[in-house]
Amino acid sequence: MKDVPYTFQLEPPDFIPSTYDNHIQRRLSAMRGQYADEAALAQMLEQEDTLLYDVYELRRPEIAGEILHGISIVHPGKVGDEYFMTKGHFHSVLETAEIYYCLKGQGVMVMETPEGEWAVEALYPGRVLYVLPRWAHRSVNTGCEEDLVTFFAYPGNAGHDYGTIETHGFRKLVVERDGQMAIVDNPRWQPPSSRA
Ligand code: F6R
Ligand code: ZN
Repeated sequence: MKDVPYTFQLEPPDFIPSTYDNHIQRRLSAMRGQYADEAALAQMLEQEDTLLYDVYELRRPEIAGEILHGISIVHPGKVGDEYFMTKGHFHSVLETAEIYYCLKGQGVMVMETPEGEWAVEALYPGRVLYVLPRWAHRSVNTGCEEDLVTFFAYPGNAGHDYGTIETHGFRKLVVERDGQMAIVDNPRWQPPSSRA
């Protein structure tokens, strides 16, 4: 971890930071239960545990006042008709926001609040997205061939709650229908008020 002000480069075509501390890779096997078409996921897993996304983090103390930041790269592809996506999460400290800046590719951010309010915003190069405090977020690559690359920054004390999304999923799924991106209801999702 650096103890003097620092810079790093984000260069096309890959935008992998010129220096980073942590490289996380999430594969298909980490997404069991998250895709609507479980048979398609099982079939794909028989062939290969495909890499879905990479995250490159610059390490900072996980405390208020710091800003955690890095690059997220979601690769192109689908499970059934549902695009490759991140796991998605709420921040453990719900009242913490996040900023995303899209550097490459085409995609969307799927978001929702604990009360079930939802939003989907487009991501494309040059687009900045402010994810409000309290909104869970998942990035989805809706492009055919290109990676979806975003720079992210969020408060050091935010933490991550993956469990709520693992259990209930997001309210909306992003799928391909007749060659186009479509937003559909998640059949697995239940209103928070009716959850056990
Ligand atoms: C951090 C954040 C991003 C994601 C990254 C991978 O709060 O939102 O850095 O961590 O896009 O997604 P997840 O963490 O959902 O696997
Ligand atoms: Zn986040």
